[in-house]
Amino acid sequence: MSSLLIRNIRTLVSASHAPRHIVRGAEMADLPAIDDAWLLSENGRIIAFGNMTDCPERADTVLDATDRFVLPAWCDSHTHIVFAATREEEFVDRIRGLSYEEIARRGGGILNSARKMQAASEEDLLAGARARLREVIGMGTGAIEIKSGYGLTLESELKMLHVIRKLKEESPIPVKATFLGAHAVPLEYKDRREDYISLIINEMLPVVAGEGLAEYCDVFCDKGFFTPGETDKILKSASVYGLKARIHANELGITGGVQVGVANNALSVDHLEYTGDEEIEALLNSSTIPTLLPNCAFFLGIPYPNARAMIDAGLPVALASDFNPGSAPSGNMPFVISLACIRMKMLPEEAINAATINGARAMELENEVGSVAVGKRANLMISRPMNSLAVLPYHFGSQIAEKVIINGQVV
Ligand code: NIG
Ligand code: FE
Repeated sequence: MSSLLIRNIRTLVSASHAPRHIVRGAEMADLPAIDDAWLLSENGRIIAFGNMTDCPERADTVLDATDRFVLPAWCDSHTHIVFAATREEEFVDRIRGLSYEEIARRGGGILNSARKMQAASEEDLLAGARARLREVIGMGTGAIEIKSGYGLTLESELKMLHVIRKLKEESPIPVKATFLGAHAVPLEYKDRREDYISLIINEMLPVVAGEGLAEYCDVFCDKGFFTPGETDKILKSASVYGLKARIHANELGITGGVQVGVANNALSVDHLEYTGDEEIEALLNSSTIPTLLPNCAFFLGIPYPNARAMIDAGLPVALASDFNPGSAPSGNMPFVISLACIRMKMLPEEAINAATINGARAMELENEVGSVAVGKRANLMISRPMNSLAVLPYHFGSQIAEKVIINGQVV
């Protein structure tokens, strides 16, 4: 038994005795909070919280949070943190004027990462991904989704998924695994893409599912990558094995990706830099969560997704980092929240809900993390002294979390 008591919390954020599993539309601006609060955890779980008038007397560890906010840890529902090498040479090519799509057409981009992945050892991949995981936990991430998709051969996709499985076993935070064999069509399949899709469906999916290596199946459904028809075929095959859909869509154009995600009951459709009324309409009649990745728009210089239109229409928006070597080489969730507020006009409360409870729901972890509630994991942050919650996105780039607590222990 080990217990942790946090006392004199200026404001305990996203704390509620009524269960909150997802927030949509106007509710996204509500962040239930308790001022002058305490929180007690035991064996890694939140067991009670309240106002200082009835604070418990003792615990194994007692922290004082005078002038500080306590928040649920970030739930990052979209990352690619297993990769063999960084791609800063493409970053410099883009500074010189090439676009992300031009680089991809030349065999750079995802295919560049795939070549390096095929040559990498499982040990090196694990060491790199482990360091990234440790880094993002230090920035307050308390649950994470990780994708394959830089393998693009059976052997190499399995290598990535084995690394993700190891991370899952050793990680102090929940990890969800996604199979993304359909991330790009390898060069050797350029003129026979149906054969690559058959490889995914007939050879990769059965092994991935048979070994229990992934919970989800993703497809990069976009201009120059996979068509809605191909995406549909892959997702339907995945669902036969019990792998739920979560896809990349509408990053490079209006392509029908959102609709194909919704039609396949995707848990989330991610990116959505190009989203019109029809996409919003499709999402409104579904349980699919639009997940926005502003680090990618920031880094590639593409349009930001229209979060305002989505929230104002009543949708539940989630925010994630997309940490990957090509389009978003950062897993810094506080920066994601700053961009969401500064460039996408989300209110601080909306952005925090999007990066916590809605991200948790997008990973089916809403009963485990994403808010302060009895029974959930004590995955929390204690801020530095702040006058209001808006300071968090306002001081973009600053380390706002003074302490990160995972399973009731300061890390
Ligand atoms: O989410 N858009 C597709 N996949 C990744 C980027 C992959 C890469 O460039 O390595 C993304 O942005
Ligand atoms: Fe991605």
